[in-house]
Amino acid sequence: MTCNRRTVLAAAFLAAFTFNTPVFAAKPLVIGFSQVGAESEWRTANTVSIKDAAKKDGITLKFADAQQKQENQVKAIRSFIAQRVDLIAFSPVVESGWDTVLREAKAAKIPVILTDRAVNVSDPSLYATFIGSDFVEEGRRAGRWLLERAKKTPDTIINIVELQGTVGSAPALDRKKGFEEVIAGNPKLKVIRSQTGDFTRAKGKEVMEAFLKAEGKKINVLYAHNDDMAIGAIQAIEEAGLKPGKDIVVISIDGVKGAFEAMIAGKLNVTVECSPLLGPQLMQLARDVVANKPVPKRVVTQEGVFPAEVAAKEFPNRKY
Ligand code: AHR
Repeated sequence: MTCNRRTVLAAAFLAAFTFNTPVFAAKPLVIGFSQVGAESEWRTANTVSIKDAAKKDGITLKFADAQQKQENQVKAIRSFIAQRVDLIAFSPVVESGWDTVLREAKAAKIPVILTDRAVNVSDPSLYATFIGSDFVEEGRRAGRWLLERAKKTPDTIINIVELQGTVGSAPALDRKKGFEEVIAGNPKLKVIRSQTGDFTRAKGKEVMEAFLKAEGKKINVLYAHNDDMAIGAIQAIEEAGLKPGKDIVVISIDGVKGAFEAMIAGKLNVTVECSPLLGPQLMQLARDVVANKPVPKRVVTQEGVFPAEVAAKEFPNRKY
C-alpha cells in the first residue's frame, strides 16, 4: 500500500515536472531568410553555411530561394512578415528598390539583417546590421595584383576584358569600381570590353566567346567578378585554341575550390577571396538583435588573396 502511494506520488511529480517544463523552455528563434539563388559555387556554400549554423544553434530557419529575381525576394519578405517571424535576413540580388518592403517590416516591428550584399535605402534604420565582404576592396585587390604583374612589362599595353556580375548588384558595382580605381594608376592597362555574365558559368562562357570573337588575340587579361564566370570563360578560351593562364591572364574573385583546381592546372592566375561562410556570425547577430543587444551596423568579413603559386599548398585548407 505504502509502495503504491509512493509510486503514484512519484508518477504525479514526474508528470507535473514534464508538463510544466515547456513553460520554462525558451521559444526557438524563427528567422526568415531570402537567398539570391543558386547561381554559383559560392552561393551554394553560403546556403549550406546558413542552414548548418541555424540547425546547430536550434534556430528555426524559413528558407526561400529567389532564383535571382528581386520580385521573389519581395514576396518572400512579405510572407515572412505575415508569418510573424522573429527576424528577417536576406542577401539582396540588387542594391535598389527595397525601401517599401523594408518599411513594411519595420512597421511590423520585425528586425532585418542584410547578409552578403548591401542595399541602397534612404533610411539606414530600415535594417539592423549588414554582414559581408568589402566588395570595393576585393576589386582593388584584383587591380593591385595586376598592377604588380604589369611592372614586369612596363612598356606593353595590356588589354583587359571584364566579366561583370549581375547588373545592379552590389558586388558587380563595387568590384568594378575598386578595380578601375586601382588600374587608373597605370595608363597601359585598358579595359577594352566589359559585359555582364550574371555570375554564372554558362553566361561567363557565352560572353567570353563573344569577346574572343570580337577581339581575338588582342585580349591579354580577363578580369571576372567571380570564379564561376572565370571557369566558364576558361572553357571558351581553350575552345578558341588559346591557353588560359598563359595567353590570357585570368583574375577572379571568390576563392572557391573550383578556382583552386583551375590554378593548380595552370589555367587561372589569381583568385581574391570572398568568404561565403557567414552562417555562424549571422546567427549570433540575429540572437543579439532580437535580444535588443547593441550590434555594429557593419560587420566586414576578413579575407585574403590567393595567387596560383600558393594554390596547391592552400587547397587542403579550403572549406568551400
Ligand atoms: O555576392 C557575392 C557574389 O555572389 C559572389 O562573388 C558570387 O559568386 C555570388 O554569386
